[in-house]
Amino acid sequence: MTDHVILTYAGNHYRLPVVTGSAGEQAIDISRLRAETGLITLDAGFANTGSCRSAISYLDGEKGILRYRGIPVEQLAECSTFKETAYLLINGELPSQKALTRFSVLLNDHSLVHEDMKIFYQSFPRSSHPMGILSAMVNALRSFYPELQRLEEEIDITVTRLLSKVRTMAAMSYKISRGHTVVYPRPDLTYCANFLNMMFDSPVRPFEIDPDVVKALNVFLILHADHEQNCSTAAVRVVGSARVNLYTAISAGIAALWGPLHGGANQAVIETLSEVAQSGTLDRVLARARDPKDPFRLPGFGHRIYRTYDPRARIMKRMAHVLLDKLRISDPLLDVARRLEEIALKDAYFIDHHLYPNVDFYSGIVLRAIGIPTNMFTVMFAIGRLPGWIAQWKESMDDPDWKLCRPRQVYTGPNERPYVPIEDRPS
Ligand code: SDX
Repeated sequence: MTDHVILTYAGNHYRLPVVTGSAGEQAIDISRLRAETGLITLDAGFANTGSCRSAISYLDGEKGILRYRGIPVEQLAECSTFKETAYLLINGELPSQKALTRFSVLLNDHSLVHEDMKIFYQSFPRSSHPMGILSAMVNALRSFYPELQRLEEEIDITVTRLLSKVRTMAAMSYKISRGHTVVYPRPDLTYCANFLNMMFDSPVRPFEIDPDVVKALNVFLILHADHEQNCSTAAVRVVGSARVNLYTAISAGIAALWGPLHGGANQAVIETLSEVAQSGTLDRVLARARDPKDPFRLPGFGHRIYRTYDPRARIMKRMAHVLLDKLRISDPLLDVARRLEEIALKDAYFIDHHLYPNVDFYSGIVLRAIGIPTNMFTVMFAIGRLPGWIAQWKESMDDPDWKLCRPRQVYTGPNERPYVPIEDRPS
């Protein structure tokens, strides 16, 4: 492997170092480029630009590989729990039994939300989108829990507080939006069972915790837990680089995830599948997706990194079938999704553009089977992604090379010109 490249510009030759990652991928280190050549680079959407070195997730977009701290996501989905996977992402290793027990105690101790925060929920219109509420409430945590020193102990508590409270806050927004009694977390329930109970328990109809549903939710959250430098993780790192507190950086990540091109796609998938199921517009949807003049993008298809099947989509598809069978649910949208996938994967446009189902294509089917309302699908993505955001934030804070994120630009506006008094301006 080469350790440098030569850039030839204006008759000069510049030697730029090449760095090699632990899986063999290589990058040109351009940190001295402007100082040595006067040049900057231009890369719309940062499609070819690495922002950092990271040891958290590894993706191979050509082979459809995803590993968290080196462990294949398939093995974690099969053998782990979301709580354990969150610990792995944040701390770099799977926990010992003692460490996992301590983590569980901390998650339980920090699962309540300050009673004064309930007032905020009353102020949001009932029709507010839960992602907007979640982003605001996470940012508001700073006001209630201002301490965040650099002490490791303090960081651990702050991190665990956020991991634990995010599900309580999500369930609260659901209950309050329906005018129902808020259900408090219970010390005797696991992370996912506690969330489901807070969402669906009621004084008049006790919620029966189904282990198959708990397992499905664990797998759903594990599959969403991290994904290297995606849009929302990049937002957490960029906002975090200004040295804001963790809650504010995470709030920025939630805001970015809301977009329909990113985490908001899971809600858009169900809306599209529902439209096709109701009005039989499958061919029209595919025609719009192929039309270069139509800004419509088929939700749940395509990916910046994966040029093959998203490994998470494969697991999610299988889980959708298993869960619906176990719960004896027949969801017509699953049939529509499978039909849409079958046609798209044989379609020249989708083949030529390397468009395959991504994590969002089947995830909504699983969430519907669990009973999560459609407008909370992206909130579920945020709960899953939280340990990844936290791990990436911590890694950036500890990175000696990390600095304030401030990209450059290529200016295309008017060159210098004089101010013109208003009376001299053309009417
Ligand atoms: C997530 O980055 C991550 O890791 C994200 C994520 C994570 O875990 O954090 O994996 C989660 O966000 C998954 C993606 C969810 N979004 C969607 O499902 C929305 C639909 N997908 C597209 O909008 C699109 O595929 C993106 C945004 C996901 C990626 O697009 P890129 O890499 O920016 O590429 P592009 O938009 O420039 O598309 C390249 C070509 C274009 O055609 P040409 O102009 O070259 O002819 O592919 C076409 C696009 O029109 N294309 C699609 C398409 N996706 C890309 N055409 C129709 N339908 C689509 N879904």
